[in-house]
Amino acid sequence: MSNALGRDLAKLVAAVDAAATECGHGAYGQRFHIMPPAGWLNDPNGLCQAGGVFHAYFQYAPFDVEGGVKAWGHATSRDLMNWEYVGAPLLPDEPFDCHGVYSGSALAEDGRIRVLYTGNVKLSDADGTYDYVNTGRRADTVYVESVDGLAGREFSQKRVVLASEDYPEDLTCHVRDPKVWRDDNGRYHMVLGARRRVDGPHVDSRFCAMHGEGAGRDVGEILVYGSADMLSWELESRVSTPERFGFMWECPGYLELEADGGVPARFLSFSPQGLEGDRWDRGNVYAAGYMPVTGNITGGKDAYELGEFRLWDAGFDFYAPQEFTAEDGRHILIGWMGMPDEPTYGNAPTVACGWQHCMTVPRELTAGAGGVVLQQPAREIERHYASVRVGAGSLEVAGDACFDVVVDGVDGAFTATVDGELKLAFVPAEGELPSRFEMRFTDEGRASAGCGRTVRWEPVDEVRNVRIVGDVSSVEVFVNDGALVFSTRIYPEAYGVTVDALGANVTYHALNI
Ligand code: FRU
Repeated sequence: MSNALGRDLAKLVAAVDAAATECGHGAYGQRFHIMPPAGWLNDPNGLCQAGGVFHAYFQYAPFDVEGGVKAWGHATSRDLMNWEYVGAPLLPDEPFDCHGVYSGSALAEDGRIRVLYTGNVKLSDADGTYDYVNTGRRADTVYVESVDGLAGREFSQKRVVLASEDYPEDLTCHVRDPKVWRDDNGRYHMVLGARRRVDGPHVDSRFCAMHGEGAGRDVGEILVYGSADMLSWELESRVSTPERFGFMWECPGYLELEADGGVPARFLSFSPQGLEGDRWDRGNVYAAGYMPVTGNITGGKDAYELGEFRLWDAGFDFYAPQEFTAEDGRHILIGWMGMPDEPTYGNAPTVACGWQHCMTVPRELTAGAGGVVLQQPAREIERHYASVRVGAGSLEVAGDACFDVVVDGVDGAFTATVDGELKLAFVPAEGELPSRFEMRFTDEGRASAGCGRTVRWEPVDEVRNVRIVGDVSSVEVFVNDGALVFSTRIYPEAYGVTVDALGANVTYHALNI
């Protein structure tokens, strides 16, 4: 269902998409990572599988490569590797979403795709009094469902199911990104990311300039709602950490992984903004990670305990991931391989071609020991293994833009170079610095392969195995069965991988996708 504005927007987006398809994505177009046809892509939305088909909707600003008013783009796949863009079914055409069909999620059930998203509105500021944190912004939760069955390309009339006034009063206007699931009893739950207002003096935060003074005192949290029908919602719980952990939590998720002994391992996923101090100042401007949950977040404030926060990905380009359960029961995570508000590095080579950003490779999740989630590229990647090279302790292969390198039996030493420009290494402890795994661009200039990216590292006691997955303009590195992951965009002039790891087995697969 649409209105006159929606119909015109649809024509404009289709024209931009068609023109972009003619031009292609240029030398750095990805082969197996979801890209926008044109313009800007951010968060994955509405991830689900129905009738064998995977659906990945995404935040899409087709008219401006640097972002703009968001619609939902839509890509589908049968194997998580070959993705086809099929249109932009949700456009900002209603008063309650006119400044963006913001992030949300989907459930495929009863032969249709049911969606919840945030309608973003920044009210016009006639008197110049809005700060857009505590005033001037709306973020209604909106429901739509597909009217073309499981195709998911056309949606019903939009319906506001929670208006901004319905959220707890002590929140700022920043509430968004509903992630919905159905529990074993058939009851629906959704989590929403939020920024709670705290009055009083603020601490001097590097985030105040961009996010207002409240960035130095507001508190990130998650609202948990419950419903019998996905339409009428009641607040079940509010989840936050005992100590303030950033001022805003975006894109929450709640996942249950099978664990030993049949007790599910539960995790709260979110993208916190405003983390400061050494640990965070050397990393990305915003983080995305998870905390193990003891108990259950749907049961009120005494029903759960949160464990240690871990980054989903410690590389340069990763934010706002979303997880879903595939029809075969696998838990799959897809993240945005980009970083918002990033001043020091960019993606000039694709921006010059009129597009920016892509998703990560879909990653299978399993529960590891000690509250760690392990990530591995979806196994479908193996169907695209074209040729194999093996090496004992070292290997050098040049020429493939797409590859999957598995290094097993690492014992102490590990270094690898990707495309001559990106170094991966296990670095022993020195001085104040712990032993760590490092991803480092050798040339840090903005015109280099890293476009200004420098170094990222995480402490790790030992490295047992490393897997390096390359697409034309991205590298994703899975360390120790995927307990630690690093992702980055890269714009190399020539392709090639060198691995040195005394005693290890190196297996290099060129990918044909
Ligand atoms: C995260 C985010 C979400 C929001 C969307 C808007 O990157 O800021 O919180 O819904 O992007 O595009």
